[in-house]
Amino acid sequence: MILLGVPKENHPGEKRVAMSPEGVRKLTDLGFDVRIEKGAGIASEFSDAALAEAGATIVDVATAIYSECDIVLKVRRPTVAEAQQLKEGATLVCLLMLQEDDELRDVLLARKVNVVALERVPRITRAQKMDVLSAMGNIAGHRAVIEAAGAYGDFVGAQMTAAGASQHANVLVIGVGVAGLAAMAAAKSLGAEVRAFDTRLATKDQVKSMGATFLELEFEESGEGEGGYAKVMSKEFIDAEMALFREQAREVDIIITTAQIPGRKAPVLITRDMVESMKPGSVVVDLAAETGGNCECTVAGEMATVDGVRIIGYTDMASRMSMCASRFFATCIVNLLKEMSPNGQFTIDQENEIVRGALVISDGREIPPPPPPATPKKTAAAPEPEAKPAQEHIMEPNRIAWGTTAGGLIVIILLFVLSRFAPKEFLEHLTVFILACFVGWQVVWSVTPALHTPLMSVTNAISGIIIVGGMLQAGTGDLDLAAILGAVAVLVASINIVGGFLVTRRMLKMFRKDAA
Ligand code: NAI
Repeated sequence: MILLGVPKENHPGEKRVAMSPEGVRKLTDLGFDVRIEKGAGIASEFSDAALAEAGATIVDVATAIYSECDIVLKVRRPTVAEAQQLKEGATLVCLLMLQEDDELRDVLLARKVNVVALERVPRITRAQKMDVLSAMGNIAGHRAVIEAAGAYGDFVGAQMTAAGASQHANVLVIGVGVAGLAAMAAAKSLGAEVRAFDTRLATKDQVKSMGATFLELEFEESGEGEGGYAKVMSKEFIDAEMALFREQAREVDIIITTAQIPGRKAPVLITRDMVESMKPGSVVVDLAAETGGNCECTVAGEMATVDGVRIIGYTDMASRMSMCASRFFATCIVNLLKEMSPNGQFTIDQENEIVRGALVISDGREIPPPPPPATPKKTAAAPEPEAKPAQEHIMEPNRIAWGTTAGGLIVIILLFVLSRFAPKEFLEHLTVFILACFVGWQVVWSVTPALHTPLMSVTNAISGIIIVGGMLQAGTGDLDLAAILGAVAVLVASINIVGGFLVTRRMLKMFRKDAA
C-alpha cells in the first residue's frame, strides 16, 4: 500500500494544509494509506479527530512523514532541511516555485525524488479540476475586495439613510485573469461600479458580461502571447496604459491590481504620484506583491499608508480564507492523484500531458518545461467556459472540408450498395441515422468551443423527438410493456427538455454582451 503523508505547514502565517477530511476519505478509497502530522489542519478548522475519523493516521512528528512516506503533499515548498529527509524515490507534490540558483533544487536532485510542482499544472480544460493556481487566484481575488472593503472608510455600495447618503465606490481592476474576474464579481456584488483593464483584448467581453466597463486604449498592440498567454508589452504600450491609470487614479476609490505574466517580475503600473493623486481613504490592493508588486508603494506582506491611501500588499490572501482554500487545495490534489493512478496504481506517466507539465524533477534529473499549449488559456473564474486544447478541439477548416467530402462519398457508395439487397425500412433508418451523424458533426465543429456547453444543452432539448415516439407508443390503448416504456420515455425526455432550456438560458446570460 502506498504511504502518503501530509506535514504541517511551517511557513510563517501559512494557515492552509494540503489535505481535508473529505480528501482523506477519497484517498483512502483510492487505496492510499494517509498519514497527517498532528495539528496540521487546526488553522483550517480540520481537527485531528475529524481527519482521523476520515481514515488518516495522525503522527506526532513530521520526520515520520518526510523520511517514511512514498508521497508527500504540501502547500508550500519544503525547507532544505525538510527536503533532505525525503526518502529516495519518493514523490513530492507542492507549490514549488523554484528560483534560479535555488539550493532546494540541488537537494531535491541529490535525494533522487520525483517532484510535481503544482504551479506547473497546464491550464487546459482537462486539468482545470487540478489547477491549484486558479483555485487560489479565485479566492485571492475575492478576498482582495473583502480586505479593500475593510480598509475603506465608506460603504462600497450606494446607501440612502436618514443620517445621510453615500455614493457607491468606484473600483478599478487591473488584469482580468482568474483573480481579476473574481475581484470584479465580489466588488459588483457589494454594489460597486467596476471598471477593468487587461492587455489581452479577449477579456473585453468577459468584463462586459460581468456588468463592468472595459477601459480601452487607443493603441494598436495585442497582448496575446504564445499559446494565448499574456506577453510582455512594448514600453510605449505600458506608458499609454499608465497614462490611463493616472487619469483613473484621481477618479476611483479602490484599485485592485493583478497584472502578471507567468514567470516574470510583475510590471509596475501604479506609481507613487498616482497613489498621491488618489482621494484620502482610497485603497490599493496589490495582489502581485509577492512578485515585486504592480504598485510602487507596495510593501510585500504589509499594509502601507501614503497620503491617506492604504496600499495592501498581503501575500497570503488565500491563506486568509484557509478553511475554503485548504478544501479546494485538497480537492485539486485528490484529482491530480486520481489522474496519476489510472488503473488504481499510482504511477508517474510522462506520456500524460498533465503529469509531464507539472513534473520538474524525476529520479535525480531536472525535467525542462514542455512547450506551451497552442490554444488560448483559461483566464476566468470557475464558471467561465474555456477554449479547449488543440488536440481536443481544433481542426483546420480545410481538413474538416476534406473529411466531410470523403465521408460523404463513402456514405453514398455504402447506400448504393445496400440499396441492392437491404430491406427498404432498414435503408430509411440508416439514412436518417447517417444524416443525424452528419448534422451533429457539423453543429459541433462549426461552433466555437467556448459555446459547446450551451450548445449541448439546447441540442438535448431538441432531442424532444423522443417524446413523439414515446407518445405514439403510450397512446396505442394497450397497457403493455411498450406503452409503459413509452410513458417513461415521455417523462424522462420532458425533464431533459426543460433542464436543457434552463441551462441554455443560464449559460447564454454569461455571454450577453450588453449585460451592463
Ligand atoms: P492570471 O495569469 O490568470 O492573470 C493575470 C492577468 O494579468 C492576465 O489576464 C494578463 O493578461 C494580465 N496582465 C499582464 N500584464 C498586464 C499589464 N501590463 N496590464 C494589464 N494587465 C496585464 O493570474 P491570476 O491567477 O489571476 O493571479 C493574478 C496575480 O495574483 C498573480 O500575480 C498571482 O501571483 C497573484 N496571487 C496573489 C495572491 C496573494 O495572496 N497576494 C494569491 C493568489 C494569486
